[in-house]
Amino acid sequence: MAFFRKTSEIFGLDIGSSGVKAVHVKESGGAYTLTSLGVAPLPPDVIADGSIKDPRTVVEAIRSAVSRAGLKGSSCAIAVCGRELIIKKVQIPEVPAREVGDVVQLEAEHHVPFAIDEVFLDYQSIGLHNGVLDLILVAVKKSKVLEYAAVVEDAGLSPTIVDVDSFALGNQFELNNPEDRGETVALIDIGASIMKTNVVRGGSTIFARDIPFGGNNYTQAIAQQLKIPFEQAEAAKLGRDVGVRWETVVPALEAVSRELSLEVQRTFDYFASTAESERIGKIVLAGGCAQLPGLSDYLSSNWGIPVELTKPFQRIEVDPAYLDEVHAAGPALAVAVGLALRRPGDKQKRSGSTSRPNGLAGGAPGSSSACRRSTSAGCSASSTSPYCSGSEGTGGC
Ligand SMILES: Nc1ncnc2c1ncn2[C@@H]1O[C@H](COP(=O)(O)OP(=O)(O)OP(=O)(O)O)[C@@H](O)[C@H]1O
Ligand SMILES: [Mg+2]
Repeated sequence: MAFFRKTSEIFGLDIGSSGVKAVHVKESGGAYTLTSLGVAPLPPDVIADGSIKDPRTVVEAIRSAVSRAGLKGSSCAIAVCGRELIIKKVQIPEVPAREVGDVVQLEAEHHVPFAIDEVFLDYQSIGLHNGVLDLILVAVKKSKVLEYAAVVEDAGLSPTIVDVDSFALGNQFELNNPEDRGETVALIDIGASIMKTNVVRGGSTIFARDIPFGGNNYTQAIAQQLKIPFEQAEAAKLGRDVGVRWETVVPALEAVSRELSLEVQRTFDYFASTAESERIGKIVLAGGCAQLPGLSDYLSSNWGIPVELTKPFQRIEVDPAYLDEVHAAGPALAVAVGLALRRPGDKQKRSGSTSRPNGLAGGAPGSSSACRRSTSAGCSASSTSPYCSGSEGTGGC
């Protein structure tokens, strides 16, 4: 997790598997304004399984999103998710602040299922009790960060901050919902291919996990059921007129929603099995797939708790030029907004962190909002998540 600290005028660059979103949010005296927004689609399979298969197409999409946004600066905050990302609560004996980094480095070897010199490490102190220091450990494969940083750099930009999707999601939620601090809320971003969950309470993450499930599952099910190409199935899912009646699509949608609900249930069961005995008060959905008609009602009736859509611009004034786009994309912009709110050094400022994370490719010291939002973790070494490489959970605690 790393930084090149050049300027505070950075923008959020969300490189999703279905498209790139570039967002700039200006902050002045505690008021926020969306000043730039650009989105560029990506064809399916250019990013698959969280890995970039066709870097040149991603570079073009980044350039296109940035150009559509009219952004002139080069400094941006990006995020990674899914595979090869581990976030975990660890405990170490209390040591002087200057020694914490070295102890974490040693401790990480017990928790990270990769060679320690293959990962970037970051950490955050979250509590001290009876001589024991609670920390949130974030580890991500260097190759993953470098893969994403490379396409950003090839597009002529500087990846100033590398964050984690689920924490960027939490970041925007925290800004937009300051009144929700007492309740335990499950934030779920359902993108095209990865579902990111982040359970927050009082502005801190208490559990997070990524699941390889998303809008593509719906599209594939429609394509399979109706024996039509993926592109036509995608358009039909979005309600576009492509010669497919909506009623014929509904059975596939319902079947996949049941699967999605089961995936969410597994994650919540896993959450419940961790040290946390929190009751989740509500679910807030983000990501493009959250807009699927009836999905929030279905999940709400399944779970017996309120399910609502996130409003990434609730407390961000939107330049009138972007109102239509913001209205259309809505919750799909949540991660990009969360990234756009990041500023170099904000983690240290807000939390008084003693962290001393690794640099990225020999760059300046690293940091991420990931830890800042975390207070405890749930990922265990025995997790069976498909993203856990048979050993650890990823994308979350
Ligand atoms: N109105 C809508 N109804 C249903 N699905 C939608 C709607 N709008 C977008 N989607 C779906 O949302 C998905 C894209 O969402 P999003 O932009 O959040 O994904 P992404 O960030 O590119 O993917 P990921 O984060 O998984 O890499 C696609 O599967 C798309 O079909
Ligand atoms: Mg996404």
